[in-house]
Amino acid sequence: MAATTIPLSRPGAATAPAAFPLPEMYERVSRHILPMEWPALAPDIEAILRLKKERNAVILAHNYQAPEIFHTVSDIVGDSLALAREAVTVDADVIVLAGVHFMAETAKLLNPSKTVLIPDMGAGCSLADSITAEDVRGLREKYPGVPIVTYVNTSAAVKAESDLCCTSGNAVDVVRSLNAPRVLMIPDEFLAQNVQAEVPEVEILTWAGHCEVHERFTPADIREVRESYPGVTVIAHPECPPEVVAEADFSGSTALMMNYVVEKRPPQVVLVTECSMADNIAAANPDIEFIKPCNMCPHMKRMSLRNIRRSLETLTHEVTVDPAVADRARLAVERMLAVRPR
Ligand code: 13P
Ligand code: SF4
Repeated sequence: MAATTIPLSRPGAATAPAAFPLPEMYERVSRHILPMEWPALAPDIEAILRLKKERNAVILAHNYQAPEIFHTVSDIVGDSLALAREAVTVDADVIVLAGVHFMAETAKLLNPSKTVLIPDMGAGCSLADSITAEDVRGLREKYPGVPIVTYVNTSAAVKAESDLCCTSGNAVDVVRSLNAPRVLMIPDEFLAQNVQAEVPEVEILTWAGHCEVHERFTPADIREVRESYPGVTVIAHPECPPEVVAEADFSGSTALMMNYVVEKRPPQVVLVTECSMADNIAAANPDIEFIKPCNMCPHMKRMSLRNIRRSLETLTHEVTVDPAVADRARLAVERMLAVRPR
């Protein structure tokens, strides 16, 4: 008698739904990623977590990275200053910089024996593009003896022509540390003007570079939001025009903005900066309401889970620094790191 084969599954029979991937990790981003979007992202996250172990790699991510990068695969997150400080002590063989090119270059300067990767070489910065090494040499000639403080948002070649660097987190301390009557602060005109307001005893000369994200905010934006949300707390990045910063309750680097919100816990807040900042804080602080406006940085947004995965798979794109400028550029960054807050 012929055996009867019992089908394992019959056409039309219900099959068990696939398990929801990485549920605990999803919890961290559930305010920003729909459950239906997650199964498309989870395989890249799983691959990145595996590749980090295989390659002995760490991911340094700037505060402007999207929540699915910031809250899942990143090992170290922070503002430009924190990422530079952390880059010095990274012990892994490979550093993937989820941010923009100048940040990867700074990491390479500070830890030259590591392989430093950026997932997309096109992740630039309008400030870094606003000035060349030749421009700085011209300023040096025009203003002999005036110390040159260069924002980290610049190429290594520009840093190499400078006396020391600063970030938005330490610009005031760096200028004060010089004890000079005049300082050239380049290339961000608005940051220089905002620092000038805090350090009136020093004459600050600057350059006409702007951040394409922050220059778009206007005082009218702030007034409108205050009218619509009476009592709202307004926090502006110092790359914004001074008239915008003047309308704000607080101004500081991305890390200082985050600390302010987390410590003071205003019920409603506007972060006058890149949009992912609010998303990243909101993910961990559901009781705080974040109000627009915000603007996207197209360079920061070139990072994705897909290209971070590819970067680790193929060890691309490696960031190197021209040896002709590396030592002088490193010195400018190290002098900045040696400045202690007053
Ligand atoms: P922070 O140093 O404040 O993180 O700023 C970097 C930056 O590029 C802001 O636009
Ligand atoms: Fe550069 Fe502005 Fe983008 Fe920051 S937000 S990386 S300063 S373009």
